[in-house]
Amino acid sequence: MRGRFFALEGIDGSGKSTQLELLARRLEQAGFPCLTTCEPTAGPIGSLLRQVLTGQIPCDSRVVAPLFTADRLDHLLNGENGLCRAVERGLTVLSDRYYFSSYAYQSVDLPLEWVIEVNRPCAQLLRPTATVFIDVSPELALARIAQNRERTELFETEDRLTRTREQYLKAFELEKDREQVVLIPGDRDVETIASDIWSTISTFLSPGA
Ligand code: ADP
Ligand code: TYD
Repeated sequence: MRGRFFALEGIDGSGKSTQLELLARRLEQAGFPCLTTCEPTAGPIGSLLRQVLTGQIPCDSRVVAPLFTADRLDHLLNGENGLCRAVERGLTVLSDRYYFSSYAYQSVDLPLEWVIEVNRPCAQLLRPTATVFIDVSPELALARIAQNRERTELFETEDRLTRTREQYLKAFELEKDREQVVLIPGDRDVETIASDIWSTISTFLSPGA
């Protein structure tokens, strides 16, 4: 059977990576072998993007957006560990971010419809079984980031994260007929959120779902 593909989304500090690990553990326990991954990737285009995000390489937003798409296409298609092949082999793939991250972050500076169009090849190759959006306020996200790190990245300001969250919500509305999106309130303790995510994800796992 073809594997499922779940994308975790949210503003920086929303708790995606924490929840991704917990979800992978629950899936493995339930007998679903998992591949966990993230975007930007650790590949050459993802590494370039990390340098853009830390401000080491200045780059126009109209260049950054297609770079995220190129990184995503490589994530999907690369011969060694491309996600398309993993799903075909029956693995359950969990990705910390996918194209809704581009829809939300890049559309703060660019038209949302344009960003969606640029990412169309990705949607055609692999649409998530479901996208899980962990919703937290920018204040809470920044407090968590500050606790955890010495440096913040390009998009990690309150104003920027507020606009990014708004763009996520706009993108979900615009794509509601094509995409399965689950909104999970993220301002609760780790275990409560994990149980909430599990009860939704498990509905997508039966062979007929
Ligand atoms: P993201 O991957 O979305 O940036 P992380 O999972 O790395 O978020 O979480 C950011 C920080 O907040 C980490 O220090 C993590 O331990 C902490 N954290 C995650 N979820 C919660 C939660 N529900 N309550 C309190 N702190 C959390
Ligand atoms: P990430 O390492 O996931 O950050 P965090 O763990 O703090 O959430 O992502 C790095 C940054 O890249 C994050 O600010 C979001 C941004 N990003 C985009 O702007 N567009 C995209 O398509 C993706 C995948 C990430």
